[in-house]
Amino acid sequence: MSLLAYLSSFVLIALAIKVYLKVTTRWCQNKVCLVGKTVVVTGANSGLGYEVSLEFAKRGARVILACRNEDKAKQARDQIISETQNPNVVVKLVNMASLASIRNFASDILKSEKRLDILINNAGTGILRNEFTEDGLQVLMQVNYFGSVLLTMLLMDLLEKSSPSRIINVSSILAKQANLTKGNLNTYTGMSVCYPNSKLGLILFTMKLAKLLKTSSVSVYSLHPGVIDTNIFNNVPIVGSIITQYFAKYFFKTVEEGIQTILHTALTPGLEIYSGKHFEECDVVETYKTARDLELMETIWKETMRLIKCEEISEKLQLDAKR
Ligand SMILES: NC(=O)c1ccc[n+]([C@@H]2O[C@H](COP(=O)([O-])OP(=O)(O)OC[C@H]3O[C@@H](n4cnc5c(N)ncnc54)[C@H](OP(=O)(O)O)[C@@H]3O)[C@@H](O)[C@H]2O)c1
Repeated sequence: MSLLAYLSSFVLIALAIKVYLKVTTRWCQNKVCLVGKTVVVTGANSGLGYEVSLEFAKRGARVILACRNEDKAKQARDQIISETQNPNVVVKLVNMASLASIRNFASDILKSEKRLDILINNAGTGILRNEFTEDGLQVLMQVNYFGSVLLTMLLMDLLEKSSPSRIINVSSILAKQANLTKGNLNTYTGMSVCYPNSKLGLILFTMKLAKLLKTSSVSVYSLHPGVIDTNIFNNVPIVGSIITQYFAKYFFKTVEEGIQTILHTALTPGLEIYSGKHFEECDVVETYKTARDLELMETIWKETMRLIKCEEISEKLQLDAKR
């Protein structure tokens, strides 16, 4: 095949995929106003976190950008304020790879904020090396999973006080490829399993938390946002930069398309009956096979609480659920 033929095939395939994505992407239809509401978005300086923070700010919310890099976060804040004219957008620093940093962040929020209506656990990373953090936790599992769990547990009192409130856990369809056990929860399971395990962890956490919150007005959802053109692929060795530079623009969803299921779960009225469920394309979907083992859900919950030293809050939630 000549170079011209290759190029035309590439363009045709890219066009077909773009048309398919435009036709199949579901858009969050509601126009819920967020004046008087407070939202925390982790990983808010780029990709989905940035775009969803922009949308919340447009709707009048107080938006807390929870980021690890001060310069990037301030740049995001300034851009959002200048685009929305909403001055109520603030930066608070948190490194999801450090339990101490998450504890400091949460205690600052509990001291300084009167309410918390929506928590978006969005911060995440694609591939990281086989390393452990100062907390003795596998780094990718900590950033993508343990960190979000700890943050949610620490902010629970404020979420309950502000209820009806919502927690959104940004997971991934790759959770279908997970092979999670109590034994490998805190180990490096290789590039192709570690990320899926972290995302399945979030789905199991969502399911268990919803059970414990059944009698409260705090609801919790997990979701797959789609495959989106963001920085997430940058640290995938070799193919990462090829994907970002040559493919993502043509074959993946835009960030505006990518935030629709996050907006839907965070804002659509009446969704509380689906608390604990998983969403794709602004709709509840059947739980992935890997997330159907309720015994695994309990085991992973217990082991997680032990590893992040959160047993006290967990016990309190279990007692409240029994009342
Ligand atoms: N893009 C997709 O196709 C896709 C598909 C399924 C699920 N997701 C999920 O969507 C979420 C958002 O990702 P994205 O696609 O928008 O990618 P992104 O543009 O790379 O955004 C990831 C965000 O997480 C932050 N982050 C990474 N490590 C952190 C840490 N240790 N502490 C605090 N923040 C940290 C990043 O901050 P820095 O800028 O400082 O690194 C960035 O703000 C992730 O959970 C991802 O797994 C994405």
